[in-house]
Amino acid sequence: MDPQTISVYDRSAEQIAEQHKVLVPTRIYQLVNKFFIKGEACADIGCGIGRDSAWLSKQGYAVVSIDASEGMLQQARQLNPNAYFIQDSLPLLKKQADSSFTNVLCSAVIMHLADDQIACAVTNLVRITAVDGVLIISFRGTNSKDHRENGKLYSVIKLDKLVSLFTQAGTRLLHSEIDYQGDRDLEWTNIVLKKLPPLAV
Ligand SMILES: C[S@@+](CC[C@H](N)C(=O)[O-])C[C@H]1O[C@@H](n2cnc3c(N)ncnc32)[C@H](O)[C@@H]1O
Repeated sequence: MDPQTISVYDRSAEQIAEQHKVLVPTRIYQLVNKFFIKGEACADIGCGIGRDSAWLSKQGYAVVSIDASEGMLQQARQLNPNAYFIQDSLPLLKKQADSSFTNVLCSAVIMHLADDQIACAVTNLVRITAVDGVLIISFRGTNSKDHRENGKLYSVIKLDKLVSLFTQAGTRLLHSEIDYQGDRDLEWTNIVLKKLPPLAV
């Protein structure tokens, strides 16, 4: 976890909540509809204000919403009083048991980790996923030379390197794409992976 990033989310949670409420991540919802295993347990890692958690619940998933920022979680609890929220953080996800989720969504979060935390985050995202479960990971790039925007860290993550880490951690790539968001001059990368059974010895 990058403490500076989390303190920005804590301090600005109310304002960020106003911005995020009106964004609809249409592409992520399409990927969920195509790849997630319907009706099963789902972790929303870095859930922010819980907008996607609420949508996933409406689609019939049993959702656990996880975020490192208490400020963002407070906003999320106000918006979704009946949902289940946990304060926990990447890269370790210490409070999450092995193989506990059939579906794992981690949208717009991992670029907030330092380079040297990405491999550990991948290991733990795969660890909490059940065999044959599906992970959807989405992250964006940055145009900032020092990789900070308003104090928040935006590490540059290379698609090939990330896929290689996920493959080594025991998953198979089902889908990858890079989307260009013209109005913000930003690239978004979305990948979908399936957790494989352990190799027989
Ligand atoms: C850009 S928001 C994305 C929120 C939501 N997933 C979405 O797509 O709208 C990033 C969220 O990730 C959380 N976050 C950042 N670093 C994290 C970490 N290391 N572990 C867990 N959550 C983290 C932040 O607190 C924030 O709520």
